[in-house]
Amino acid sequence: MKITKICCIGAGYVGGPTMAVIAQKCPHIQVTVVDLNKERIDAWNDTDTNNIPIYEPGLSTIVAEARGRNLFFSTNVEQAIDEAQIIFISVNTPTKTYGKGKGMAADLKYIELCARQIAKIAKDNKIVVEKSTLPVRTAEAIKSILDNTGNGVQFQILSNPEFLAEGTAVTDLLNPDRILIGGDESIEGQKAITSLVDVYSNWVSKDKILTTNVWSSELSKLTANAFLAQRISSINAMSELCEKTGANITEVADAIGMDSRIGSKFLKASVGFGGSCFQKDILNLVYIAKSYGLNEVADYWEQIIIMNDHQKKRFSNKIIQTLYNTVADKKITFLGWAFKKDTNDTRESAAIYVANDLISEQAKIAVYDPKVSLKKILADLDYLETRTSVENTNSLTSFDNPYEACKNAHAIAILTEWDEFKDYDWQKIYDSMQKPAFVFDGRNLLNSQQLKAIGFVYQAIGS
Ligand code: NAD
Ligand code: UGA
Repeated sequence: MKITKICCIGAGYVGGPTMAVIAQKCPHIQVTVVDLNKERIDAWNDTDTNNIPIYEPGLSTIVAEARGRNLFFSTNVEQAIDEAQIIFISVNTPTKTYGKGKGMAADLKYIELCARQIAKIAKDNKIVVEKSTLPVRTAEAIKSILDNTGNGVQFQILSNPEFLAEGTAVTDLLNPDRILIGGDESIEGQKAITSLVDVYSNWVSKDKILTTNVWSSELSKLTANAFLAQRISSINAMSELCEKTGANITEVADAIGMDSRIGSKFLKASVGFGGSCFQKDILNLVYIAKSYGLNEVADYWEQIIIMNDHQKKRFSNKIIQTLYNTVADKKITFLGWAFKKDTNDTRESAAIYVANDLISEQAKIAVYDPKVSLKKILADLDYLETRTSVENTNSLTSFDNPYEACKNAHAIAILTEWDEFKDYDWQKIYDSMQKPAFVFDGRNLLNSQQLKAIGFVYQAIGS
């Protein structure tokens, strides 16, 4: 089937950038991204593309090129579904906060709603693509809903998980390591796979497009995230041992990373991984393993999360201990709040947990992050429900200027690896702080020699 119309349900961190790149690379295809969230859609349609709701380097230029030509953002979900030949489902699949599987299983209510809506509206055959990260065998449930509640039309379900990382979404989408497409082994299933392969072939070479059965594709996504997160927890586990022994984690990472079997990527020790996916997806994997009675498998993967929680806690404890076992009424400045650089996303950021620990010890937190607003920061803290929002507001404030944020601080904690932090006038910051002036570098970002020469007491992760 020649594809000329695509729709994507969910205009978030995946749906927005992914569809923008498809639209840019396939001018002959009309791409409509829909969302229930009107505010988000309005922001995607802002005449100034610098105001689009998601910050990703290079994204606003692509949106400016394609929007209005063959890329559209709308809240009219029904019309978009009706017109499209391929429907991507790219809605959120957070960890369940209630009922069976609470705190572990993926919440699939948004996925089911999409399936029901597609079934209700579709009047001709459709290809439905799982773009969201889903537990293995979700396609079975989607198919059952579509076939049982639909209008007698044929649906093919494909799994096409997204591997982009935030902060590098555009380059990841333009030059993916691979595109994974899982489909049914029947003739109709294979035809659907070919239609989607043809879309990606507009800019991705065929040897990078891998086709599998649906279950392999669904499980490969969770597996990829579990393996990536495992590397971070492994290096972070070693960082604690380095601190006890005088070994240096950066040197250890360099030394093992040169082994081509290990490789050098994803070995940066840190305050702990954050983001909307690693924790959620590993917990989901643990839940799936448990539900099949595979307790050893579940325990094995759960340890990645336990290590990550420990690493965050260890960082806040280190700050408290080093500041003479009390941070009460001390000003502690956080440079960075986002879960990594080059994104405005803060979901599961380590900064939230570290701030929460320090506020419990009555510290006063000052935050500077180039892309995150105070409103978002306070919402993140409120979400933990440790204390009232009035108490959070009284304990944390943010600044538009990093030098103001650091003035009179007892300590600075680096929570995000924004490049600009390296270029600051650290002498000026030192002069404005309480003495002794401490820097806790949760990202091993700054030049330790330079900071120590200025007079800072500087502590990094794993050295
Ligand atoms: P997100 O929360 O940024 O976006 C999801 C959007 O879907 C929201 O704007 C929400 O309003 C919308 N939505 C929910 N239900 C809807 C419905 N019934 N109709 C219309 N719109 C609806 O989430 P995200 O970060 O884009 O993640 C989406 C999926 O992609 C998740 O499964 C995630 O695990 C996966 N994923 C995310 C990333 C990432 O880097 N963020 C990378 C790869 C995969
Ligand atoms: C991750 C994966 O890298 C993507 O391939 C995947 O598509 C995505 O999850 C997803 O499924 O959502 P993302 O979470 O956006 O992408 O960002 P990463 O670059 O993986 O970083 C995750 C966290 O790990 C960040 O807090 C980062 O600072 C931390 N990290 C990363 C380290 O602490 N050390 C490292 O060496 C690498």
